[in-house]
Amino acid sequence: MTDIEALLLSRIRDVADHPEPGVMFKDITPLLADPSAFTALTDALADIAVRTEATKIVGLEARGFILGAPVAVRAGLGFIPVRKAGKLPGATLSQAYDLEYGSAEIEVHAEDLVASDRILVVDDVLATGGTAEASLQLIRRAGAEVAGVAVLMELGFLGGRGRLEPALDGAPLEAL
Ligand code: PRP
Repeated sequence: MTDIEALLLSRIRDVADHPEPGVMFKDITPLLADPSAFTALTDALADIAVRTEATKIVGLEARGFILGAPVAVRAGLGFIPVRKAGKLPGATLSQAYDLEYGSAEIEVHAEDLVASDRILVVDDVLATGGTAEASLQLIRRAGAEVAGVAVLMELGFLGGRGRLEPALDGAPLEAL
């Protein structure tokens, strides 16, 4: 484990039985409150944006906004929020996806994505991969390219990487 991995891991708090019994929640607020850890995370994600030749960052509501916005600024790129349905005021593209029980829908402002864009999707956690997969579908439907997906944490036991593979179509999934 690298020094940065150890620093990031040390600032993620496990909260048992949140938001429901049986779930171990990964709380990143201690990391956000620590300037050296937050800066190290931002720098590591910005390095991925540069390496993958991204032209814009997409952040997934809500924690993907907190992580993705400073990455966009650090890398000199624009930031595009992908929001839960009903929040964006303009003309949107929507993508529904399945949850364990039921379904959810995310949206993006259609005009924010253009065909010449290469998008790096940033989020805190890849769990089942449903949210990230839907975001990649939105990006491709808008005609933009996928530069990759970059997350702080991947919960490998939930199989998100495998679910994401077809939508990634060879683009990298990087988990710090
Ligand atoms: C969490 C997390 C990811 C997503 C991962 O967000 O921040 O965006 O779930 O889960 P998945 O890989 O199974 O799709 P959540 O939906 O809890 O939204 P929030 O950040 O607004 O609380």
